[in-house]
Amino acid sequence: MKRICSLLLAALCAQVFIPAGAQSRPAVTDSKVEDVVKAMTLHEKATLLVGVYSYGRNPDGTTRKAVPGAAGGSAEISRLGIPYAYYTDGPQGVRINPTRKGTDKTFYCTAFPIATMMASTWNTDIVREVGEAMGNEVLEYGNDILLAPAINIHRNPLCGRNFEYYSEDPFLAGKVAAAAIQGVQSQGVGTSLKHFAVNSQETFRRENDARVSQRAVREIYLKGFEIAVKEARPWTIMSAYNQINGVTASEHHALLTEVLRDEWGFDGFVMTDWTDFPRNTAAQIKAGNEQLMPGLEVQVEQIEEAVKNGTLTMADVDLAVTRMLRILFRTPTFKGYKYSNAPDLAAHAKLVRRAADEGAVLLKNEGGVLPLRDKNAKVALFGFGSYKIYQGGTGSGNVHTTGIVNVYDALVEEGFRVHEDLAAVYDGVKIDFKIGEKLAKLRAADCDIAIFTIRRSAGEFVDRREIKGDFYLTDNERASLTNVSEAFHKAGKKVIVLLNTGGVIETVSWKDMADAILLPWQPGVEAGHTVVDILTGRCNPSGRLPMTWPVAYNDIPSSKNFPSNFEGNSWKKGPVRDSFDPNKRNEGFTEYEEGIWVGYRHFATFGVPVSFPFGYGLSYTTFSYSDPVVKAGKKGAFTASVTVTNTGSVPGKEVVQLYVSAPKGTMEKPLRELKGFAKTRELAPGESQTVTISFDTYGLASFDEALNAWVTDAGQYTAQFAASVEDIRQSASFKVRKASVVKLSAKL
Ligand code: BGC
Repeated sequence: MKRICSLLLAALCAQVFIPAGAQSRPAVTDSKVEDVVKAMTLHEKATLLVGVYSYGRNPDGTTRKAVPGAAGGSAEISRLGIPYAYYTDGPQGVRINPTRKGTDKTFYCTAFPIATMMASTWNTDIVREVGEAMGNEVLEYGNDILLAPAINIHRNPLCGRNFEYYSEDPFLAGKVAAAAIQGVQSQGVGTSLKHFAVNSQETFRRENDARVSQRAVREIYLKGFEIAVKEARPWTIMSAYNQINGVTASEHHALLTEVLRDEWGFDGFVMTDWTDFPRNTAAQIKAGNEQLMPGLEVQVEQIEEAVKNGTLTMADVDLAVTRMLRILFRTPTFKGYKYSNAPDLAAHAKLVRRAADEGAVLLKNEGGVLPLRDKNAKVALFGFGSYKIYQGGTGSGNVHTTGIVNVYDALVEEGFRVHEDLAAVYDGVKIDFKIGEKLAKLRAADCDIAIFTIRRSAGEFVDRREIKGDFYLTDNERASLTNVSEAFHKAGKKVIVLLNTGGVIETVSWKDMADAILLPWQPGVEAGHTVVDILTGRCNPSGRLPMTWPVAYNDIPSSKNFPSNFEGNSWKKGPVRDSFDPNKRNEGFTEYEEGIWVGYRHFATFGVPVSFPFGYGLSYTTFSYSDPVVKAGKKGAFTASVTVTNTGSVPGKEVVQLYVSAPKGTMEKPLRELKGFAKTRELAPGESQTVTISFDTYGLASFDEALNAWVTDAGQYTAQFAASVEDIRQSASFKVRKASVVKLSAKL
């Protein structure tokens, strides 16, 4: 053993101490990884499988170093050249502490647009570019793995963490996640695709049992993960807290081994979501969950004990350690990368602005009130969000950023005259208050236009609620908007509403009061600039909704099966929750009764009216679609193309959405489903572009529960080229000649 160790030390440790910036270190081969595993003691192996907090101990008793504020990492085993690895949140950018003891230097990171907004760009190139910049911040701040992207489905608009997730549609979510992973990992750092899987609510998220059909789990809740894993090979996956059909996700062998590795070919390692109490440690390792996060010393003992008493074999442990080492030997820390602690935040802010400009969605523009033509207009700026915008959501997905640009500042910078008295009214006031009729009339008399921001925040630990001030406007917001709208309209002036929110709110009861509604989401550091870019027409909006905005909450198919009015925070330290009752509907367990009928699959198929449909968003120009063609290629491959022409008077980008309707078969199917999309380049007036979208028969399959198989029926399909799920512009039919069946053995 001694000899092996010294050889390994020579082979590996020598490289660890290579001078800084040594990126050229050769990859550690599989046989070398095997040698390292052979050289490890059981205690060292167990320690590697259990994450370490910043105060955690390495096997040799030394205290772990840390990047302050990073969420966790893995232990160092210095005698074998196994370095620390540092993991940091999250989907909107790197989350570390912005200040440190003993230095004046700051460590701020860029708050990029929230994930939902990135999905609203429908542009995988910009998503990849943002991923590269995030990956660069991971690297330059000394981290190894970004705990992102998060890809859970927007099953219900009130999930507190929807802002961290992409869409109600698994195809869009999967494609966007794949691009994000490719971007981040191009920097030589890893990602952790999370939360695997069916983690659709925050209320009792660590205990809740998601009871979901095999078809829905495959088609809706796993599909995005499948796409992202196959296309982008994330270094790691984070298993979810919740149970799926009675089995805790981190102990779910069918999920973590049969589906993830055997079916999809995942070759990284799985870490648990952060759990501050031990679960069934041996069952987790056996299921294929390699690392237990954030890590408790008792779990190290439990692994050692399990090997001694035979609950785990040494082969189980070795397999897990091997999977981890293969990744850890790719990290910048292992490679001795000398990070700068000084990523180019100014360059990244410019990218934030470009990305947010593409993700903002124009929901209404009556009479072409936007773009604003008069740059000298005097603006009456209402709403707290106009003066203090929410750049993102709360919890682990929040980024410590600096230099957030507010709408007020950006308007002033642009040269607009903004009424100072209103700024003074909002300054320092914390409580929700009402703009009275008198004040509204005064401002309507001395200003040219009203801009009214409605602001909402949500985040980890707590679901949103179907109450005033969250899903609905507060009484004061409604009264203020009514007074402003009446006064300005009486004076012949227009009202623009900005929605500074991470997710869906009710809009039908008030949208008539606004001439234009712009949804800049929570757009990251450059928030105000994004708003002004669109209001002025410097940027022609090209964002499209990645989820449906319903007429009423009760129209949402999961509304009965979601804790829409849970009061307070169900997250407390330790395993026992005060009010937790495993038999309580929507808390102890949640019935996913709606099955596959999530989002537009429900609204479009059953003809339920919506406020704004999936895929919707306006532009300052118009587009025509022509020459739809679908061509069959080899091995079940198809290409669909259509020509888009800018028929308006200003340049703009269009998002072409490809929906497919299947022929009638044995299974009930949605009216249409998204199977592809493409964003055009910026087209000048009169200019055309032909976009081509590829898909294949596997992508057309539905999950047949009786056969436990993906089945694509033979027959006549229709490809629909659309500007939203309700706005089909062209279609073309195509034939699938032979049915295909992909049988699976795993059951969830
Ligand atoms: C969250 C994860 C996050 C982790 C580390 C957990 O509470 O669910 O998304 O990555 O904490 O901060």
